[in-house]
Amino acid sequence: MAAELIRSALHPYPASLLIATKVGMVRPGPNQWKPLGRPDYLRAAVEASLRRLGVDRLQLCYLHRIDPQVPLADQLGALRELQVEGKVGHIGISKVTVDDLGAASALVEVAAEQNVLNVDEPDDPVVAVCQRRGLPYVPYRPLNAGKLSAEKALTWLLGLGDHIAPIPGTSSAEHLRELVAAVRQQERSPQHPRQAAVTEGHGVPEGRTVRAGTDV
Ligand SMILES: NC(=O)c1ccc[n+]([C@@H]2O[C@H](COP(=O)([O-])OP(=O)(O)OC[C@H]3O[C@@H](n4cnc5c(N)ncnc54)[C@H](OP(=O)(O)O)[C@@H]3O)[C@@H](O)[C@H]2O)c1
Repeated sequence: MAAELIRSALHPYPASLLIATKVGMVRPGPNQWKPLGRPDYLRAAVEASLRRLGVDRLQLCYLHRIDPQVPLADQLGALRELQVEGKVGHIGISKVTVDDLGAASALVEVAAEQNVLNVDEPDDPVVAVCQRRGLPYVPYRPLNAGKLSAEKALTWLLGLGDHIAPIPGTSSAEHLRELVAAVRQQERSPQHPRQAAVTEGHGVPEGRTVRAGTDV
């Protein structure tokens, strides 16, 4: 659904836009999510995203969850195969521990990592590991699902380092404007010299420039 909306609103896509996609979870019922990391399913999910977005390549494709029922090498191996075929640009991982990040990095080049992080849930040792490695860290649920003030929440996150690229979610044009303004204010702040734009994608691996954004 999100992919179709993005396509109808933004296609043909400007060269400056990076669209990030996640594969590897299924929704068996309302508000129920379950990892599904079988290689055939991951391939089908990538193919479906390519069709829905109307692109030849997913620029940044996250493994949404590591499926404990499937060897990690098979899950990331499937994404690596798709990368070799040109259907996936960069590979990301999501909801991981420091050990998961190490294991994944031994198998593929991890381009970005996405974990929950916000002022109410502030402790994630993966933040420091990503900073040391120059790896984009993408906090999801950055506003704690709307419980936090957008400006304060983003100020806190963006202050953690240049490798942080939060992805606030909104269904409101007014809120989107506020989010863009909050990020731009950070850009202007001498304490946080960075490039950031809520309207663009996140986890840009090239040149390790990170930007706030949203994902599909
Ligand atoms: N990797 C993962 O496993 C995972 C899991 C969950 C989420 N995510 C990703 O994380 C992103 C964001 O997560 P999220 O949407 O669940 O949580 P969130 O960004 O923490 O919060 C979104 C909520 O904040 C509200 N909001 C946004 N801007 C606001 C503003 N300026 N003033 C007041 N309220 C505001 C929104 O309401 P309105 O709609 O009314 O603006 C919405 O209810 C999504 O792109 C999602 O795909 C990833």
